[in-house]
Amino acid sequence: MNVLLIGSGGREHALAWKIVQSPMLTRLVAAPGNPGIAELCECRDIKANDVPALVALAKEIAADLVVVGPEIALEAGIADALAKEGIPCFGASQSAARLETSKAFTKDFCARHGLPTAAYGVFETAQAADAFLDTLTAPFVIKADGLAAGKGVVIAQSRAEADAAVLDMLGGRFGTAGARVVIEEFMVGEEVSLFALCDGQSAVLFGQAQDHKRAYDGDLGPNTGGMGTYSPAPVLTDALLEQAFDELIAPTVRGMAAEGNPYVGVLYAGLMLTDTGPKLVEYNARFGDPECQVLMLRLADDILPWLQATATGTLSRLSGPTFRDEAAVCVVMAAEGYPDAPVSGAVIRGAASDFGGEAVVFHAGTTRDADGNLRASGGRVLNVCALGATLHEARDLAYAAVGAIDLPGGFHRSDIGWRAL
Ligand code: AMP
Ligand code: GLY
Repeated sequence: MNVLLIGSGGREHALAWKIVQSPMLTRLVAAPGNPGIAELCECRDIKANDVPALVALAKEIAADLVVVGPEIALEAGIADALAKEGIPCFGASQSAARLETSKAFTKDFCARHGLPTAAYGVFETAQAADAFLDTLTAPFVIKADGLAAGKGVVIAQSRAEADAAVLDMLGGRFGTAGARVVIEEFMVGEEVSLFALCDGQSAVLFGQAQDHKRAYDGDLGPNTGGMGTYSPAPVLTDALLEQAFDELIAPTVRGMAAEGNPYVGVLYAGLMLTDTGPKLVEYNARFGDPECQVLMLRLADDILPWLQATATGTLSRLSGPTFRDEAAVCVVMAAEGYPDAPVSGAVIRGAASDFGGEAVVFHAGTTRDADGNLRASGGRVLNVCALGATLHEARDLAYAAVGAIDLPGGFHRSDIGWRAL
């Protein structure tokens, strides 16, 4: 198979690492890729949302499958454009990707299909938002409707803070993404990330993990894209997995199909495990980052049959998936100043070392300069991952590797996995 992989982060490096292990693979090309991915396959400098150029590349390499990493490619319509060319795509259509790109769409969908999620309202004016806030008590959850680079959610501890967030969003802080705000009931519980592959008609669970969203140890500091993950998350028991599948994933795939908007790709459910069962915090139309990294370490199967079956509506022909019983941990090494103002340019040393055991380093935000030095070029720079017989062992292996890598000015959390440990 010839495969085109779209994206440039640690998630895509992990996907590439797993794809190149497939005996089915003939050729893998990544766009735009990153220096870590470039050690595994050819990379082409095409942006992840440059749909015409990506389609041209898919045709040039006679791609049998295009695997989409980031949501920006879905929002730009990559799946729709590839469908016109008859090229199978692991990724949702622009319309189906609204499960991620429009929070109002998702909340309305949940309401139509009776899916468990927080009570909510969608508002276009501050007056209407105000009236709804009057019916709630603190903390208040205020969200910009559209994609806002992970910054569109405010958990306001006071009414004044809530009002300010509403005005800020409706006032254009996130451009058109904030033209509507979603206000939600605050849910209490532990958060987990659940993944399912969906081929438009059917779905199969495809792993679970727990992320650490706050920047600093003890879940303190600003929200980030995720500072580290571990899998499995023991808090998500088999019974809860089954419940989440039956009450959320399966009806979502059925409902999307019934509405003429079939969902194809990976569906990432951010779940809150509340006293009354798992409830949906949000859907994403992509693998989590850095959740994908730990899933790829644990996936025992060849990944290509899964990606291909998802893209071609044939998931029901496969059995599994099989994940290794071992635990996987991912520690994010972030640049100085992340998430507010990450500093680029630090020279990274030691990332290419052989750490022995089952440790592997994925590149998330790196570039290679003219002299061949590896430099930090993003907020999250490296994803240091390891597999171990136990979570303890995986964590120790990952942190030993972190300790051997020099990222000047950088930082990482030292407590990844604390909830399970
Ligand atoms: P989101 O971008 O929707 O995932 O929101 C970011 C974070 O805000 C989530 O990971 C949760 O920690 C928190 N959050 C979002 N919605 C709610 C809610 N309704 N109740 C409690 N926490 C929430
Ligand atoms: N790690 C959370 C996300 O990918 O959205």
